[in-house]
Amino acid sequence: VDSRQDFKVADLSLAEFGRKEITLAEHEMPGLMAIRKEYAEAQPLAGARITGSLHMTVQTAVLIETLAALGAQVRWASCNIFSTQDHAAAAIAVGPNGTPDDPRGVPVFAWKGETLQEYWWCTEQALTWPDSPTGGPNMILDDGGDATLLVHKGVEYEKDGKVPSPDTAESDEHRVILELLTRTVSETPQKWTQLASEIRGVTEETTTGVHRLYEMQREGTLLFPAINVNDAVTKSKFDNKYGCRHSLVDGINRATDTLIGGKTAVICGYGDVGKGCAESLRGQGARVIVTEIDPICALQAAMDGYQVTTLDEVVDKADIFITTTGNKDIIMASDMAKMKHQAIVGNIGHFDNEIDMAGLAKVPGIVKDEIKPQVHTWTFPDGKKIIVLSEGRLLNLGNATGHPSFVMSNSFADQTLAQIELFTKPDEYPTDVYVLPKHLDEKVARLHLDALGVKLTTLRPEQADYIGVKVEGPYKPDHYRY
Ligand code: NAI
Repeated sequence: VDSRQDFKVADLSLAEFGRKEITLAEHEMPGLMAIRKEYAEAQPLAGARITGSLHMTVQTAVLIETLAALGAQVRWASCNIFSTQDHAAAAIAVGPNGTPDDPRGVPVFAWKGETLQEYWWCTEQALTWPDSPTGGPNMILDDGGDATLLVHKGVEYEKDGKVPSPDTAESDEHRVILELLTRTVSETPQKWTQLASEIRGVTEETTTGVHRLYEMQREGTLLFPAINVNDAVTKSKFDNKYGCRHSLVDGINRATDTLIGGKTAVICGYGDVGKGCAESLRGQGARVIVTEIDPICALQAAMDGYQVTTLDEVVDKADIFITTTGNKDIIMASDMAKMKHQAIVGNIGHFDNEIDMAGLAKVPGIVKDEIKPQVHTWTFPDGKKIIVLSEGRLLNLGNATGHPSFVMSNSFADQTLAQIELFTKPDEYPTDVYVLPKHLDEKVARLHLDALGVKLTTLRPEQADYIGVKVEGPYKPDHYRY
């Protein structure tokens, strides 16, 4: 790991490869590139110090350089221990005008295969600004809410006057967070309170992080305004669905190279991610079975032609199991004990609590064997093995390279516009959770049409009047579901 300067990445010599892939990705990210052009002169993010906590991939590199092109200073960490693409991280550290011997890029703290301690240390580094009046950022760009969580927990414990003892932690990860906060609070007593005071807002990328934000809003503990980027239509109805349609099979293929056609696959959860995943496996010729708890989504799955049943019914019959729920305890150790030999088990939801990895490790006599990084077999005492991908963490980023550029151009254009909104219009966004205004959502979609050769029909004024919209949009009421 290279720590020559104010960054930490695996290997700076990968920067040239990273830069080549970033250049290819730029062409596939027309939304971000159009935004760079549109705002080149106005520099709406001048003065912004953005801390990003989001998978450090090639696509994220294009996002980071877009934020910088709009005037922002940026510090970055990944939001998952396995999701960093080391060549992308190296290219960001080196920057377009630097060299591995003379890195001049953005301070980035990310490498593939971090420990939990390293992961939270990286998050802390991204939040710690050497040249800032508060020592911190004035904007956060989050994915899953870990950077936001660290700030909120820090402020909460500073108010209480003490951090709970790490011995009271509910999990290994919780212990790491409590240890980190114990250290920071002893080093700099009001670090987080001071740092939070200047944060204008956070823009949150994913369903799970958004869930955390609404929870804090309900409890009255939210410290600054937030834009829920996930629920922009051009995010969740594209990235979550079409992104996973691409990257789920990519992850399974790179991990196992197992033929998917003819196999039986179970998708737990039929939300946006589940819909993309089910289609992805059906596209490969698998027989797909869905589990759901929500009658609406269960009915949708049935109407889409999938068998819908409980995990219990099929756990000993299926070949591939994928969790997509954003919920916990979906596949337990006792379920895995009933699976077929060499069944494949993976999760594509944000956190690693969908599959009971802790319970699996505690099965008496079980043996874990690494086939290659992020692919493990677990052999039960009777000799039956199952294959677990990315140790239960999101497999499309752990085993493959996440979503491809074009779909991320939509999500990241939403992110960039959300950052501009919160940073430039603080008066319009008192502390609360917002979604992106619909005209911006439609703008992001519009920016991607030309690249696909889409010719849009223009409303005639009398037609616009008849359906009660403006010729230039927005075209749908806020409650429309797409
Ligand atoms: P969603 O809320 O649209 O879908 C989740 C579905 O799971 C819901 O329909 C819910 O009823 C169902 N569910 C909940 N508990 C269940 C249970 N016990 N059994 C069966 N079904 C259950 O959420 P979305 O947008 O699909 O996101 C799901 C997860 O994926 C989140 O953690 C999100 O952050 C993450 N995500 C991951 C991405 C990736 O690239 N890996 C991309 C986008 C989102």
